[in-house]
Amino acid sequence: CGIVGYVGGRSALGIVVDGLRRLEYRGYDSAGVAIIEGDVLRSVKKAGKLANLEKELGEVELTGSTGIGHTRWATHGGPTDRNAHPHLSTDARVAVIHNGIIENFAHLRAELTAAGIEFASDTDSEVVAHLLQAALADGATDLTHAMRTVVARLEGAFTLLAVRAEEPGVVVGARRNSPLVVGRGVGENFLASDVSAFIEHTRDAVELGQDQVVTITADSIEITDFDGAASTGTDFHVDWDASAAEKGGYDWFMLKEIDEQPHALADTLRGRLTDSGEIMLDEVRLTDQDLRDVDKIFIVACGTSFNTGLVAKYAIEHWTRIPCEVELASEFRYRDPVLDRSTLVIVISQSGETMDTIMALRHAKGQKARVLAICNTNGSTIPRESDAVLYTRGGPEVAVASTKAFLTQLAACYLVGLHLAQVRGVKYADEVGAVLAELQATPDKVARLLSEMTPVRQLARDLSAAPTVLFIGRHVGYPVALEGALKLKELAYIHAEGFAAGELKHGPIALIDEGTPVICVVPSPRGRSILRDKIVSNIQEVRARGARTIVIAEEGDLDVAQFADDLIYVPATPTLLAPLMTAVPMQVLAAEIAATRGHDVDQPRNLAKSVTVE
Ligand code: G6P
Repeated sequence: CGIVGYVGGRSALGIVVDGLRRLEYRGYDSAGVAIIEGDVLRSVKKAGKLANLEKELGEVELTGSTGIGHTRWATHGGPTDRNAHPHLSTDARVAVIHNGIIENFAHLRAELTAAGIEFASDTDSEVVAHLLQAALADGATDLTHAMRTVVARLEGAFTLLAVRAEEPGVVVGARRNSPLVVGRGVGENFLASDVSAFIEHTRDAVELGQDQVVTITADSIEITDFDGAASTGTDFHVDWDASAAEKGGYDWFMLKEIDEQPHALADTLRGRLTDSGEIMLDEVRLTDQDLRDVDKIFIVACGTSFNTGLVAKYAIEHWTRIPCEVELASEFRYRDPVLDRSTLVIVISQSGETMDTIMALRHAKGQKARVLAICNTNGSTIPRESDAVLYTRGGPEVAVASTKAFLTQLAACYLVGLHLAQVRGVKYADEVGAVLAELQATPDKVARLLSEMTPVRQLARDLSAAPTVLFIGRHVGYPVALEGALKLKELAYIHAEGFAAGELKHGPIALIDEGTPVICVVPSPRGRSILRDKIVSNIQEVRARGARTIVIAEEGDLDVAQFADDLIYVPATPTLLAPLMTAVPMQVLAAEIAATRGHDVDQPRNLAKSVTVE
């Protein structure tokens, strides 16, 4: 969920709603605001996208220069008006917004219900409003004090913001696990889940730490721990421009972000080498000896970042000869993985705030494993808690479906693999220079590929009514097939599945019907051509059963044309790096199919970009 708070000399409503618009990627099931006007608290909330709330707000007048706002990704309670935030206390003097999950809410709710309180929603969050009212009735001197009393009773993950009619000019926040940043203005201050909400107004920010309470007024920011002892956050300056998060002439952020990939990829690769040709990470709190001691690697991530990990496994194992497993973050800690001091856990996350991944990271650290983060968001929780960091430097990604994050994460994983190979001096270390040169050539190749997407757009119109689309690949083409299917599911709501091409005959081939589109990732005919021959056989198998084969192959592979109903060529690249090419037409295809079907390309139904609950 996205949360925003404002106190200052200006009218809060416009600032809060603008902030919510920039945070809408974090959830868009419903939205709401609470504004303190004089000593009256007024709140408006609405199911659906922010536009619904704005329409509602068009009919009321809310002035007042203290306010909070929320855009929701539903956890407890469906996305309805009554479950939208803010939630109010029964006396309507306190309003609360919440991001996260309060795990002991059922217990708290039962207790409050027994005390005669009637709940107005099905959410876990509402308990906080009532607990705040109770704390104030029990003698808490002010909202800050009440907040400290209440958070002591909460279990789970939360960012909370609250305002109170009796305290105009004050917004109180609390943070455990879920992110919260303060924006420091002149005669005004902000609170938000991330800086994009206030970057138009200030670039001076303070990142709150774990278990802190913050109170902002127009000209003060006071931070304490949950017990009330004075504390501090981490000051930082936001160096990207607000325009980086604008559509810039594109219909959708996703299309813009797809086109930004050559640039983003170049930024990931830029300046990573020392004069002596060694690869540098951004922050390393590990010694080379620690890296030499690594005897096992886990890559842990969710969604698209998980698919990055699947590709990275092939490259890292090949270059370093260290066994590497890839695991979904949401599964990792629950199966008691075997970890110790010589295990390296690589966590991959665009946002740096995915709760499943954070919890997996903490589990790994608890078992003494070393953790290296690959992340796009500077200063977010995941890199902060890791032992080493490589930033992808992809710039802000706004569309919910990840594109440039995927390519830049791949590039970062290649760099990590090569770095490990260099530090450990293994057999394949001598390949490093050649691979680096090939990597440096990929941004231009992706740019050229993107200039040739017209046939893919046509194909998208053709495929837009397909009930099912299958994706097949081998070796690194297999995770690319998974990513292609994920993109299509997310955006077009079409049933799509990715398979290891060799596995088809063991079951999935039964899905093939007359005309079923099968998108086939064909590896380079150079080098490991045995792989290519195998997948060509698999293509023939599906074709023989009526499939429409859409083949993604390397330029110059002329033979493959005879097996393809549709053929998309990508620039020639060494096998391990080929996902940087083959994933691109799949992104374009999914976005175009979604647009053809009339869907919201940037904000697909039921999803959120940053899922800060487990
Ligand atoms: C959400 C998004 C996905 C994303 C995943 C992991 O589910 O909808 O697009 O891949 O989170 O996000 P992260 O920020 O950790 O890479």
